[in-house]
Amino acid sequence: MLLLLLLFILLAATLLVWKRQGNHWRRLGLEAPFGWPLVGNMLDFALARRSYGEVYQEIYTQNSGLRYVCFYRLFNEPAILVRDQELLRHILVGSNFANCADNAVYVDHQRDVLASHNPFIANGNRWRLLRADLVPLFTPSRMRQTLPHVAQACQLLRDQVPLGRFEAKDLATRYTLQVVASAIFGLDAHCLGSREKVASPSRWLEWLAPLFQPSAWSLLETMSLLHSSRLGRLIGHRYVPLPLQHWFRELVAARSGGDNLLQWLAESKRGLEMEELAGHATTLLLEGYETSAMLLAFVLYELALNEEAQQRLHFELDAVAQRHAGNLLDQVALGELRYAEAALLEALRLHPAMQALQKRCTKSFTLPAQKSGAGELKVHVGTVLVLPVQAIHLDSELYPAPKEFRPDRFLHQPPPVGCRFLGFGAGPRMCPGMRLGLLQTKAALATLLQDHCVLLADEGQCRVEVSPLTFLTASRKGIWLRFERRTPG
Ligand code: HEM
Repeated sequence: MLLLLLLFILLAATLLVWKRQGNHWRRLGLEAPFGWPLVGNMLDFALARRSYGEVYQEIYTQNSGLRYVCFYRLFNEPAILVRDQELLRHILVGSNFANCADNAVYVDHQRDVLASHNPFIANGNRWRLLRADLVPLFTPSRMRQTLPHVAQACQLLRDQVPLGRFEAKDLATRYTLQVVASAIFGLDAHCLGSREKVASPSRWLEWLAPLFQPSAWSLLETMSLLHSSRLGRLIGHRYVPLPLQHWFRELVAARSGGDNLLQWLAESKRGLEMEELAGHATTLLLEGYETSAMLLAFVLYELALNEEAQQRLHFELDAVAQRHAGNLLDQVALGELRYAEAALLEALRLHPAMQALQKRCTKSFTLPAQKSGAGELKVHVGTVLVLPVQAIHLDSELYPAPKEFRPDRFLHQPPPVGCRFLGFGAGPRMCPGMRLGLLQTKAALATLLQDHCVLLADEGQCRVEVSPLTFLTASRKGIWLRFERRTPG
């Protein structure tokens, strides 16, 4: 009897705590849905039915009259999804940046020593210092010096354009790994090249290619990275697995000069120690290949679907090639490929690598009243602010016919002002590697399409679906395409 009573009291107490947690916003007098235990308002993400970006997109579209929406993330954590362009700007670029400069990601700095050097993960002054080391690697003049690494990888890519159907993300990853291994370390990753070489396994491919791929495990890893350090500890998650950490240290220790990013870092005035160099090399590698590979795969896919856009791109490639004696990988020629760049930005709009940016409030501040006049909201330290990139990119008020692939949107103007385009983020934390990302994807696009058309692998093929399992956007079943030879005009 006593046991039953105790159980009853325990159950009642748990229900009360859950009810209290799920009513956090309502208790403050704010309109918000009820937050369900453990899953908050993200049940579909927790059950791997939809990606986190799609869940945020639904919240964004369902609350079109609001400047920001109070809701509950996984583990019933009260959070704020920001919809209003002006508020987004304040948070990313303007007066509120200092109040929420940290990214809301959980990485255990003891277990993930090298990953904790990544500015994306670091906070406060440490972030400032680490970022300042990397920014000088991506100036236009450094990019000019990086171009030979890119051109060399493009040469290998040209010799290996697949015959028959192929998986675009796989090809793109081979290429970007080849570029970054060369640009960062001056090494040949053997990811592309003669058939004999490719047949012998490349450690780069073997160890790095699966890192961001959807798997049974990756949903738990995404949840622990974005939502819970406790879960991370429970499943023993490491952003950079231990064998990779050892391997990166070995690579850095064995470096032998040359004209590459690691060498420029080693020569920097701050005098970096070995461990810092290994940390930066890890950042450059991991940030350097996956996002660019995904973008390259998606732009090929969109061009395969959109014949007219592909024709315009071919027209541009032919015209620029004519002016540069057939060499599209010359610095000036690449600069003239404006439509190719617009196609890349448009592909990134439709398929952003990060479906949302998530910032943590580090100094309390106030969000203004809603348009309806409902009161101001004090944002407390620790609260997560969700900036829903995918939802913004697909908002029909910001982009007419948002689901259509129209590179023209980016052709005659730089990426739109404000926070309408967040493919590389915005403000002081904006992606420092954007130039390299665009350089390597544009060079590969030009190389592949100069002599080929890209088509869907199979007629009547379904549209690519986004995997709900990963932090960086990935396709559920791959992106299947084929090339056909063309005669340049
Ligand atoms: C097409 C390719 C790429 C895409 C789409 C991309 C996208 C992004 C995005 C969305 C962010 C977050 C920005 C924010 O928090 O506001 C970011 C941060 C970052 N990216 Fe990239 N990126 C790309 C390529 C690269 C490359 C090639 C590198 C370096 C080799 C790089 C290094 C970084 C670093 C270090 C950060 C953290 C910056 C900070 O927090 O201060 N990225 N990137």
